[in-house]
Amino acid sequence: MEVTKLLGIIILHVALLISHECSPCFCCKQGNGCSYNVQFGLDNYCYEGCINGYMSPLCQKPCVNQRCQTCSTETACDTCYGGNYGDQCLSSCPSTCNTCTSITLCTSCRDGYHIGSGTTCVYKCKIQCLSCTNGTSCTACKVKSGIGYHGSDCSMPCSNKCKDYQCDIHGNCIQCARDEFGRRCNNSCSSCKHNHCPEDRLNALKCDECTGGTYGNFCNETCPQHCLNNVCDQGNGACECDVDYHFQNGKCIPTYCPVNCSTCTSLANCTSCTDNYHYGDTCEYECTHCKSGTTCRKIDGYCWSACADGLTAPRCDIPCFKGCAACHRSLPGECTSLTWSQDKDEKKLDVFQRDMVKERHMTGNSSVEEASNYEQLQERTDQPNYQNVNENKYDVLFANSSL
Ligand SMILES: *[C@@H]1O[C@H](CO)[C@@H](O)[C@H](O)[C@H]1NC(C)=O
Ligand SMILES: *[C@@H]1O[C@H](CO)[C@@H](O)[C@H](O)[C@H]1NC(C)=O
Ligand SMILES: *[C@@H]1O[C@H](CO)[C@@H](O)[C@H](O)[C@H]1NC(C)=O
Ligand SMILES: *[C@@H]1O[C@H](CO)[C@@H](O)[C@H](O)[C@H]1NC(C)=O
Ligand SMILES: *[C@@H]1O[C@H](CO)[C@@H](O)[C@H](O)[C@H]1NC(C)=O
Ligand SMILES: *[C@@H]1O[C@H](CO)[C@@H](O)[C@H](O)[C@H]1NC(C)=O
Repeated sequence: MEVTKLLGIIILHVALLISHECSPCFCCKQGNGCSYNVQFGLDNYCYEGCINGYMSPLCQKPCVNQRCQTCSTETACDTCYGGNYGDQCLSSCPSTCNTCTSITLCTSCRDGYHIGSGTTCVYKCKIQCLSCTNGTSCTACKVKSGIGYHGSDCSMPCSNKCKDYQCDIHGNCIQCARDEFGRRCNNSCSSCKHNHCPEDRLNALKCDECTGGTYGNFCNETCPQHCLNNVCDQGNGACECDVDYHFQNGKCIPTYCPVNCSTCTSLANCTSCTDNYHYGDTCEYECTHCKSGTTCRKIDGYCWSACADGLTAPRCDIPCFKGCAACHRSLPGECTSLTWSQDKDEKKLDVFQRDMVKERHMTGNSSVEEASNYEQLQERTDQPNYQNVNENKYDVLFANSSL
């Protein structure tokens, strides 16, 4: 019973083949999208259209002849296979045309020819071109002695990283010769997890997965310490951290450290701050006295770059002289911009002469002083009236005076 049923199906298919008809669903494009269509009340309806050479809603009817590439009626072709034209594709194109719409109008050329400014493909490509768009630019190259070439003039050999030295006009490999990936096959798969090349090997820009402890496109970056199971995000290295750690600013930080402190020996003793914008034993201070966006030294807040406007001295903890909106870091009397409006008239605003600055602003003592640089300030600090400069400002002047 089963055998006769099977035989019946085979006979039906053979019969369809002889008549060039397709059995249901066989000639649907992509071989799927074939099912009942409610709108038309048709079973085996081809939703994606038909494969070449067939027509009708069920794609069972062959085109008028085998030169038709596509058709929508039983009597005429919509498009022809190469080299032919006409309603039923019965006329031959000019010999150097690949496709044409008439004997005088080519729509594409055979390999080795181009259309130039004409209408038929009478112009030859450069000898090294397999195909070309014009007399100078190849679109594909000939293989010479087993080696492919690339470049618009096909002058560059394909890389040995490409299998059989085969590449496209841009030099991208058709396949890789070794365990490598990327269009140029120049990224080693051995950096990827289990040495696996990416699924979409030629188009891949990165490994599909990294081995534990690494991340990045080529898995050559190391995950932060204390990531749970030593695994981190392939893109940015972020991770869930071990117990007693939490992720902050790209690192797993002990939860018991003070805020803004990345490593510590106790709550009171940070050994490093999460970013360089904090300083102090527990990273409790911010480098706000430094020029905006710059950082300072953890141990004492020394600004690596310039001071914030209005501040001066090595640690940028002394206000500029009165009248200076900003001043030179080692020459506090040298204003780089002014606040004194009355001076605007007579002075250029860019660099203010230091002897114009007469007042020591920071002391809170409105008495006129003449100090305008560190040497002078240094002399003054020996004098008792400077002892009352609060917050130990003047200690700073001598600490790290090499800085
Ligand atoms: C030849 O074709 C290339 C690519 O289409 C184009 O860039 C180039 O300008 C063309 N050269 C001439 C002489 O038409
Ligand atoms: C691979 O080749 C491309 C294109 O030449 C280049 O930009 C890239 O840097 C190369 N990568 C490596 C890892 O050499
Ligand atoms: C990882 O590899 C890429 C490509 O070879 C390279 O550009 C990058 O600098 C490497 N990174 C490290 C941390 O070695
Ligand atoms: C903080 O810890 C470091 C490293 O253990 C140690 O050398 C340093 O003396 C400690 N500082 C304080 C103030 O406890
Ligand atoms: C930690 O740093 C942030 C950002 O600079 C700041 O707002 C916060 O007050 C700091 N916390 C402590 C305890 O220092
Ligand atoms: C201000 O400085 C002068 C000397 O320049 C000193 O005689 C005076 O006592 C100071 N006043 C105060 C309030 O510190």
